[in-house]
Amino acid sequence: MDKVQVKLSGVSCLIFLLSVAQISAEEIKDTRVVYLEIEARNLDKKDFLGKSDPFLEFYKQTDAGMWQLVYRSEVIKNNLNPCWRKCSVPLQTFCGGDFNKPIKVECADHDSDGSHDLIGTFETNLTELQKAGDGSPVEFECIHPEKKQKKKSYKNSGIIRIKSCKIETEYSFLDYVMGGCQINFTVGVDFTGSNGDPKSPDSLHYISPDGINEYLIAIWSVGSVVQDYDTDKLFPAFGFGAQVPPSWQVSHEFALNFNPSNPYCQGIQGIVDAYRQILPQIRLYGPTNFSPIINHVARFAAHSAQQGTASQYFILLIITDGEITDLDQTRQAIVNASKLPMSIIIVGVGEADFKAMEFLDGDNGVLKSLTGEPAARDIVQFVPFRQFKNAPREALSQMVLAEVPKQLVSYYKWQGWPPVKPPEMKMM
Ligand SMILES: *[C@@H]1O[C@H](CO)[C@@H](O)[C@H](O)[C@H]1NC(C)=O
Ligand SMILES: *[C@@H]1O[C@H](CO)[C@@H](O)[C@H](O)[C@H]1NC(C)=O
Ligand SMILES: *[C@@H]1O[C@H](CO)[C@@H](O)[C@H](O)[C@H]1NC(C)=O
Repeated sequence: MDKVQVKLSGVSCLIFLLSVAQISAEEIKDTRVVYLEIEARNLDKKDFLGKSDPFLEFYKQTDAGMWQLVYRSEVIKNNLNPCWRKCSVPLQTFCGGDFNKPIKVECADHDSDGSHDLIGTFETNLTELQKAGDGSPVEFECIHPEKKQKKKSYKNSGIIRIKSCKIETEYSFLDYVMGGCQINFTVGVDFTGSNGDPKSPDSLHYISPDGINEYLIAIWSVGSVVQDYDTDKLFPAFGFGAQVPPSWQVSHEFALNFNPSNPYCQGIQGIVDAYRQILPQIRLYGPTNFSPIINHVARFAAHSAQQGTASQYFILLIITDGEITDLDQTRQAIVNASKLPMSIIIVGVGEADFKAMEFLDGDNGVLKSLTGEPAARDIVQFVPFRQFKNAPREALSQMVLAEVPKQLVSYYKWQGWPPVKPPEMKMM
């Protein structure tokens, strides 16, 4: 088993998750973000045929007095009264955290050859922009300097209206985890008959003479990263789809250690040991139902969410050969779970067709329940193990955990819950 152990120290994990969360050390210091909603009216017409294709550029003044581009909006075609989509710029990028730093705004007409025509410009600063609180917009005259010089009667080249300007604190995955959010990591293992008889070498549950199979590798790769965020290192682990003693009834959520009142395994090694012990004692059967284990974890997540704090987030790792039977119930279970502090990772082992798993992942659109209710957010990540067979072990865990930081942040942001212990912010 040592062979497949992914040895990642706490520090390398931190770096790994930093890269996953796509945040740099710089941004951890100040997590405030500037949100702007902007529109304009009566802009000058620049195009010979048609109106103008206006876009905005924001510049901040550097210490050397140069203008540095910090944001460019999208182009709105053929419109002299455009309304740009809401934008967000990290406060540090926007003005280096200095609310009085001069900001220059340019409005220009987009030309596909890159020779954009300036419509007009104005200078401001964040203190001024911030006056555009809810319902009290701030307006600026958009001035074309050359036109203003040439013509006495020149007034302006349009009005830019800041509809709203808000500064919000955006917490990162690390802010939550370091601020006391516990990750509850639960493992669910598919013990259905379609995996093949564990005694036969073609079975996905067959443990090779060197002690491994795809289930074990998946548990190790993912578990060893996640366990650094789980302080007690006690992991509930369940199996589904097998006939279990003593009654030999099919169960869709049996504790891997055969102890339903205390399904915890000690560390990832504990899950691996329990898996090896249970394998000869159960009969692989069917059907392959995912919804019971999803609902099982969701019950705990729902209970935890009632506290109204960012104190616990649930990750369910399902390892399966993918031949799901209860697709419709699973869709509903996922849609329900999307409203809870919970993410689901599905690792597909073997060579089966994973269309149903990809469907659950919902990456091609929002997953909907059978009744048409859409998921509140994307909480499922599906990864086919075969793509990683010959890749370094870190590649699998990286792929598997890629979306979890985003999903965790999206949940707490949606709920409006800050970290239990918010990070100390370094003000500039
Ligand atoms: C901020 O901008 C406003 C208007 O653009 C200006 O009146 C004010 O003096 C500026 N503040 C500073 C500190 O430069
Ligand atoms: C973590 O979740 C599992 C269900 O998946 C539950 O059995 C366990 O009690 C939870 N642990 C904590 C500390 O809430
Ligand atoms: C999902 O939530 C609805 C209520 O929103 C509930 O009626 C239903 O029983 C839940 N389904 C599952 C599978 O938990």
